[in-house]
Amino acid sequence: SPSDPDLVERARAARAALGERAFVLGHHYQRDEVIDFADVTGDSFKLAREAAARPDAEYVLFCGVHFMAESADILTSDAQQVVLPDLAAGCSMADMAEIGQVEEAWAVLQDVGIADDTVPVTYMNSSAAIKAFTGRHEGTVCTSSNAQVALRWAFDRVGGVDGTGKVLFLPDQHLGRNTAVLQLGLSLDDCVVYDPRKPRGGLTEQQLRDARMILWRGHCSVHGRFSVRNVEEIRAKVPGVTVMAHPECKHEVITAADEVGSTEYIIKALDAAEPGSSWAIGTELNLVRRLAKAHPDKQVHYLDSTVCFCSTMNRIDLPHLVWAMESLVEGRMVNRIVVDADDAHWARVALDQMLALPG
Ligand code: 13P
Ligand code: SF4
Repeated sequence: SPSDPDLVERARAARAALGERAFVLGHHYQRDEVIDFADVTGDSFKLAREAAARPDAEYVLFCGVHFMAESADILTSDAQQVVLPDLAAGCSMADMAEIGQVEEAWAVLQDVGIADDTVPVTYMNSSAAIKAFTGRHEGTVCTSSNAQVALRWAFDRVGGVDGTGKVLFLPDQHLGRNTAVLQLGLSLDDCVVYDPRKPRGGLTEQQLRDARMILWRGHCSVHGRFSVRNVEEIRAKVPGVTVMAHPECKHEVITAADEVGSTEYIIKALDAAEPGSSWAIGTELNLVRRLAKAHPDKQVHYLDSTVCFCSTMNRIDLPHLVWAMESLVEGRMVNRIVVDADDAHWARVALDQMLALPG
């Protein structure tokens, strides 16, 4: 629905008053009313790089979710302050891996005698504490746009993809499995799912020893809703449609789709698409709606027929953004995201490792 004109006016005034002191980052899943005020939009990888590249901004307003704002705090200088306009904008996937559980899992790998042969790789969608765990154990962070390179790098540290070394992949089992199987050529049998609620992750010692990918039992509730049936239905309805989905979708959905990629990849693919071509997109709805609007010469469908917003991304709305900006204009710091120094140090090691990956 169109935003309240008074609120839009207040947003413009507050943004102008902050000027260069502030930099506003907007993730692709944000509402249009928020994206309108973003200085830069991007996927989580691009936004991490953009945050690191703005040393002059006193305030970094992060319109996205909590783990992204934490990463921005880690990658910016101590003098810069990162603000998340609504502190309730978390991520249910990131919440599926708690640091205590991850440390317990690592102790299990040590007991079984495979920890020295295992490299942790954590998806950006995780708490700073888990990124710090990854840094301490000489692993790397990855995002959906560089998971393949990150996994190759990790396997190379323990004898290569064709060797016997392992990756502990946190916390999204689907991104881990999709990348390992479809891009690295591992088999589904090489992957096991570690369930933190069960003793030894619900796995036998033999299963842990034989595995190449130990996948944390986490998933995205938004992308987890797309099904193979959705793919079949859209193919029946729209002949010639190209189905493109985010790698957080289930393995069978990705296998049934034609293309897989991060939000930034999806945007670029549509920019390059032929006029008149038809697309069905399996990712969050704010982005798909914006793509449909941006490409009136192409048919852009949503892969599911039901509404599928990310409810936590949607918590950042224009009222929250206006409140945060007006508070800063009045000299009041609100909703600052600060990662404690020790976690920030080790999380930065893992984030810098990601930023140093080739490509
Ligand atoms: P991207 O890495 O594509 O930005 O995705 C982030 C995310 O939260 C997807 O659910
Ligand atoms: Fe987290 Fe999924 Fe929302 Fe992305 S779409 S922020 S993974 S809940």
